[in-house]
Amino acid sequence: MSSTEGAPLDVIPAHLLKGQKALVTGANSGIGRATAVALGRAGADVVVNYVAGREEAEKVVEEIASFGVRAAAYEADVSDEGQVVAMMDRMVQEFGTIDVLVANAGLQRDAPFTEMTLAQWQKVLDVNLTGQFLCAREAAKEFLRRGVVPEVSRAAGKIICMSSVHQIIPWAGHVNYASSKGGVQMMMQTLAQELAPKKIRVNAIAPGAIKTPINRDAWDTPKARKDLLRLIPYDRIGAPEDIAHAAVGLASDLLDYVVGTTLYVDGGMTLFPGFATGG
Ligand code: BGC
Repeated sequence: MSSTEGAPLDVIPAHLLKGQKALVTGANSGIGRATAVALGRAGADVVVNYVAGREEAEKVVEEIASFGVRAAAYEADVSDEGQVVAMMDRMVQEFGTIDVLVANAGLQRDAPFTEMTLAQWQKVLDVNLTGQFLCAREAAKEFLRRGVVPEVSRAAGKIICMSSVHQIIPWAGHVNYASSKGGVQMMMQTLAQELAPKKIRVNAIAPGAIKTPINRDAWDTPKARKDLLRLIPYDRIGAPEDIAHAAVGLASDLLDYVVGTTLYVDGGMTLFPGFATGG
């Protein structure tokens, strides 16, 4: 196994999510893509949301369909209320309902604080935080309408918010991103508290450094890689599958009693590795 690989996908039980309908936002690349594929492998029907990159999204759909489940690519900007409402309506029409939302779509617009434009600040908050709010709200409405279907799941629905280690690790030069993820943490906990009595489980995953296009600068030169590995006690950069496996677990009834939790999937990045030899 190379130092960036997660466990092979075929460890996923093929019937774990059988009969469930999942929507993964930002699923045409990176963590979203791996998560959509893993949910499909676990037996769920999957809607692959994307905002740009139809071809990639269609490839993800093809891969998921090869597991014998349904998949479709829906274009929608998660920060646009009308588009999110329309996407959810379409999913209910075409797939019947939604059981699992993975609110994954996210982006970075990095800049030193005094150079950060309002547009950079706003864009990141709009997609990373407001986008999750809108998708979670529309999914929750459908979960409440439908209620628990015991043959499908013990929960009326599952929402998985894609956060980041930066929901608790301050990050110079990325105040918009860190603020958005800090917001995701409190949004997730508040939704979990509000919706748990209705049998809706809301949780988050906080990935560390996962090898995807969003952080290419952090791993694509030997020097960057060495610097990055200093921050990761487990001494490997994460793979998208590492996150996808966590999402499959949280979506399944195996973790039915997990409510309002952030699962850190970060190789120990949040263990303050600088203190291993200092302090
Ligand atoms: C960011 C990456 C970064 C990682 C660890 C993620 O949330 O999107 O760019 O490498 O956190 O710092």
